Amino acid sequence: MKTETTIQGLAASLNPARAARKIIGFVPTMGNLHEGHLNLVREARKLCDIVVVSIFVNPIQFGPNEDFDNYPRTLEQDQRLLADVGCDIVFAPTVEQMYGSKPRLTNISVSDITNDLCGLQRPGHFDGVAVVVTKLFNIVQPNYAFFGQKDYQQLAVIRQFVRDLNIPLEVIGVPITRAEDGLALSSRNGYLSAENRAAAPAIYKTLKAAEQALLSGDALPKVLEDMKSALTGAGFVVDYVEARTTELQKIEQFNEDLVLFVAAKLGATRLIDNLQVKYTAS
Ligand code: PAF
Repeated sequence: MKTETTIQGLAASLNPARAARKIIGFVPTMGNLHEGHLNLVREARKLCDIVVVSIFVNPIQFGPNEDFDNYPRTLEQDQRLLADVGCDIVFAPTVEQMYGSKPRLTNISVSDITNDLCGLQRPGHFDGVAVVVTKLFNIVQPNYAFFGQKDYQQLAVIRQFVRDLNIPLEVIGVPITRAEDGLALSSRNGYLSAENRAAAPAIYKTLKAAEQALLSGDALPKVLEDMKSALTGAGFVVDYVEARTTELQKIEQFNEDLVLFVAAKLGATRLIDNLQVKYTAS
């Protein structure tokens, strides 16, 4: 496995593979890798000849009061994990390498689906993601790109601009990887105190209980209210508990497949999770 830190170096490493028409798979990450990321790499390994993983903590997707400075940076550990799952090339550029020294005057802003859920709490966040992911797509030029469904809204935003801008690659969404107790894996779980880590699986329990309630006929607004109460009772400060269609449109009642979304804080740590609930007409 090679590590490249410059765009030129990465091109030099990838050009022979491109010339040989190898299938290139790409997993963009911000590092501090866990099993969720490694599962993205394993999926890429199944479909592709060459697997590239980027590790870049992207400053422009963090708000002024978010955790950019403290975001865990664990490159050596990440490199070891990636070598074990068969990654071919790690791309770990500096901020200077990605953004240069001249001002950036171009933005990529997806409307509608970003003015909701995490977009309300994190203004500018999805623009920052769209810009960096587009830059990375142009740098790596993969055939397939892999993203986790834990960041469901991010995945929808990426699918949208890839379609809108005719970016020539296929986006693959990979199911959420969970700890044994149900907590969705996230680099931010590392911020949790032991006490909060013990409380955190309540998010998934609440989502599963809501699924059961919907399937047994409870009305959607009541189910969402019950989720909020359960989470507040378990010590969370709830940012939002919402239901949307799989395409992220508002939904008032459970009459098609829907996705339940939770964003909630335990102490200073904001956790997100979601669960798709299938509708079958009875
Ligand atoms: O999901 C992430 O880790 C980041 O948002 C991404 C897609 C790597 C862009 O910085």
